[in-house]
Amino acid sequence: MDDISISKVSNLKLTSLMYRSNFDLLELLEKLTKNYGQNVKYGFGAFSGYLINDPEVVKYIQMENWQNFPKSRRYLTFSPLIGKSILVANGEEWKKRRQIAQPIFQQRDLLLRFNDILDVSTNELLEEIKIKEFNLFSSLSLHTFRVITRITFGDTIDEIFDEFHECILKLQKACIKRALSPLAIMDHLPLPSNVIFKKESKKVHKLLDNYIQDRIKHPNQAPKDLLDRYLIANKKDSHGFSLEDIRNELVTLIIAGNETSALTLFWCILEVLKAPLILEKIRSEVSNNTPTTFSDKDFSESCPYLDKVIHETLRKYPAVWAVSREVKENVKFKNIQFKKNEIIIISPYFFHRNPKFWPSPEVFNPERFSKKISDDIFIPFTRGPRFCIGKALALYEIRQTLFSIFKTYNLKIKNGSDCKPLGLINLYPSKEVILEHD
Ligand code: HEM
Repeated sequence: MDDISISKVSNLKLTSLMYRSNFDLLELLEKLTKNYGQNVKYGFGAFSGYLINDPEVVKYIQMENWQNFPKSRRYLTFSPLIGKSILVANGEEWKKRRQIAQPIFQQRDLLLRFNDILDVSTNELLEEIKIKEFNLFSSLSLHTFRVITRITFGDTIDEIFDEFHECILKLQKACIKRALSPLAIMDHLPLPSNVIFKKESKKVHKLLDNYIQDRIKHPNQAPKDLLDRYLIANKKDSHGFSLEDIRNELVTLIIAGNETSALTLFWCILEVLKAPLILEKIRSEVSNNTPTTFSDKDFSESCPYLDKVIHETLRKYPAVWAVSREVKENVKFKNIQFKKNEIIIISPYFFHRNPKFWPSPEVFNPERFSKKISDDIFIPFTRGPRFCIGKALALYEIRQTLFSIFKTYNLKIKNGSDCKPLGLINLYPSKEVILEHD
C-alpha cells in the first residue's frame, strides 16, 4: 500500500497564515495547499486535525468508515435555528431523520409533482429580471428561496413569505458575520451576530409552528408538499417526531437548499457571460430545444452542452466548498493515524482544483465533462450515506432555471465581472454583480 504524503504545519505558522488571510478560511486553505500540498496535518490549540484532499482518503472517510467520522461540532453553531436536525445530527439521531426523509426524496414522481411550482416561480423570476439591470445574486436567491419554501410548505406559505424571507435574510447576514469572525467558534458569546441569530431563529420558529399547527387542523386532501409528506410518514411509520422535530427538519431543507442552488446558478451565469463562445453554444442549444422534463436523462439528451456547463460549474464552484468531520475513535488508514476528536476538513473546492486530476483547474472548460468523470474525483454533493439528500431536486431546479434564463434573455455583465469566491459557509460572491440586457 502506497503511503499518503502529508505535510505538517506548525501552530506558529498556521497562526501567521490565519492573520495573513484575514481569517478568510478559503484563502487560508489556498495558502496551505500551495505551500504544503494537498494533505496537511495542523495543530491549533484544542483544534488539531487534517486537511485532506486525497481521493482515496476522502473515500475512506465518507464511505468506507463513515461512522467513525461523524459531522464535527462546528455544525452545532446552526442549532439555535435547526436544533439537531438531519444536517447536524450524528449516530442514531441522524439515522432516524434520514429514514424519514429518504423515501420522500426518492419518490420517482416527486420532481414532476413540483413542476408547477418550478414553472410559476421561474416565470416570476423572468418577469422580475425583465428590468434594464438587476443584481444577479439577489434575484437568484429570492427565486430559489421561493421555490424551496413553496415545495416545502405549499403555495399558501406566500401569505407569510415576506416576513419569513426577512428573517432568513437577517439570519444569512448574521451567519456571514459569524463566519468572518475569529471568535465565530464561540457562538455562546453575546456578540451582536450571535444575538441576532438566536432572535431571528425564534421568530422563524414561531412563524412556522403556527403554520404547521394550522395545517394539522386543516389538512390537504392529498399530499401537496414536503410538510404533508413528513406529517404522513411520521404518523404512518410511527417515527415519533415531535412537531418541533418536524419543523427543524423542514427549516433545514430550506437553509440547505436555498443559498446552495442560488450560488450554483450565480457562478454558472457569471462564468458563461464571461465566455462568449460558451454563451453562444448554450443559446443555440436552448433555442432549438425544450426538454420533456429536467430530469438527468431527459436533460442530458436534449441539452448535452448546458448539462456539461452545469457540471463544470459544480466542479469549479461547489457551493458547499468545505465540510468537516470529527474523529470518533483512534484509527489508522495507511500511514495516517487519526486521533479521537481531531477535525478533518474536506474541501470539494480544492479537491476539484487539484491539477493532478484536473489540468488547468482555473479554466472554466465544460468539455472536461465530455468523457465520463469518476465519482472519486468529483464530489459537489459529497458521497456515502451523508451525501446531499436534495441533489436531484437541486439539479432539476438549476437546469430548469438556467434553460429558461438563457432561452429568454441575452444578458451582459454591467458591473462585477472580477467577482471572486469567498469561503464563508457557502461559496459566496466577493462583490455585487449587476447584469443588464443586450
Ligand atoms: C447545488 C445545490 C446543492 C449543493 C451543492 C449541495 C451540497 C451538499 C453537500 C456537499 C452536502 C454534504 C455536507 C456534508 O457532508 O457535511 C449536503 C447535505 C445536505 N443537503 Fe445539499 N446541496 C445542494 C442543494 C440542496 C437542496 C436543494 C436541499 C434540500 C431540498 C439540500 C439538503 C441537504 C441536506 C438535508 C443535507 C444533509 C444530509 C445528511 O446529512 O444526511 N441540499 N448538500
